[in-house]
Amino acid sequence: MNDVIVPEDWRGQYADRMMRTFGPPLLELVRGEGAWVWDSEGRRYLDFLAGIAVNVLGHAHPVVVEAVSRQAATIIQASNYFATPPQLALAERLLRLTGAGANGRVYFANSGTEAIEAGVKLAKLTGRPRILALEKSFHGRTLGALSVTGNPGLRAPFEPLVPGVEFLPSTVAALEGAIGDDVAALIVEPIKGEAGVLPLPDGYLGAARELTAKHGALLILDEIQTGVGRTGSWFAYQGEGIVPDAVALAKGLAGGVPIGALVAFGEAAELLRPGQHGSTFGGNALATAVADAVLAEIERADLVANAARRGEQLRELILSMDHDLVGGVRGRGLMLGIELTAEVGHDLLTAALGQGLIVNVPREDTIRLVPPLIIGDAEIAEFGERFREALSTVEAVIEMGGDS
Ligand SMILES: Cc1ncc(COP(=O)(O)O)c(C=O)c1O
Repeated sequence: MNDVIVPEDWRGQYADRMMRTFGPPLLELVRGEGAWVWDSEGRRYLDFLAGIAVNVLGHAHPVVVEAVSRQAATIIQASNYFATPPQLALAERLLRLTGAGANGRVYFANSGTEAIEAGVKLAKLTGRPRILALEKSFHGRTLGALSVTGNPGLRAPFEPLVPGVEFLPSTVAALEGAIGDDVAALIVEPIKGEAGVLPLPDGYLGAARELTAKHGALLILDEIQTGVGRTGSWFAYQGEGIVPDAVALAKGLAGGVPIGALVAFGEAAELLRPGQHGSTFGGNALATAVADAVLAEIERADLVANAARRGEQLRELILSMDHDLVGGVRGRGLMLGIELTAEVGHDLLTAALGQGLIVNVPREDTIRLVPPLIIGDAEIAEFGERFREALSTVEAVIEMGGDS
């Protein structure tokens, strides 16, 4: 126990006070503006992690500030015994943007993992015993979402989990071999973000749609990370020309305010009946008002097109560096994974922080970039300079034969 806590000793306070669910924090962040954040020592960083693909409008965006303030001064929470105008407006906008339309329905949650829980419940309600998911997938940390997460290390301490889940390699052949009329649902991410920005093979989603439809199984997409414009279309499935039975959303939906949603299409929208699911905070007026304002701003400023264009610009810039440590760039829009030719991800992250740049390392041979969708030429140029310097720093250490 610490009797005396030095106020500025945030590392010590974190170590003493916080549950050990995460590693030691990289910095203590005190404020942000646009694509930039400041730490408690006054240093400025270009934020290409954006709260892990959350702050789609960047930090302290006037639209978010206005929506939070307006709704907080009006009504924050009413409970699900009551409707509120913002939740109805957001549901209408989501049904339009997803294409679920008049036959769709929305369930509001507070996080990604909860949106997936609702999807797992939909699957259970079909009455079929098997759920298919993919190896290396990530769908969240609550027990239902963990049950469909294809990472044995994450699941092991909490087994037994929901029974009947099978994990497949991400190939059409594996899906063809596994699917049958006893399958309730296939749950997939269009691009596996946490596993290292791993896109599904070309044609996989189209084949998955055909096979699930043929066998009467649900196709549930986890667009918690890929959705809300990130990949250069509103939702990644729209770039593939398919329609799912349900899509899980969270992360960028309210630009940083916690929210999750499961949008169900057609018959799948009728599966959950009164009393079968719910959440005290789900669909609260504050989160839904901010989400509706964020989506309206993305539409107004055409940030989906910006994500597509800036993603290509970033990819070209990274490849044009022609650096020995860069093997390629995976992903779409503003969800990019820089392939490294050596396992130096964390060294590069540290070097980037030294240059005032925040990036992320989902695995040692990959740097993940999920910046705000508002970035333009200035931020991309700043990224280029800082990332090039970070690469040089790591390369110099490698050349000296030292531990970088
Ligand atoms: C694809 C995907 N699904 C689910 C989740 C879980 O979302 P949350 O952390 O909001 O519970 C995440 C979070 O990283 C994710 O990337």
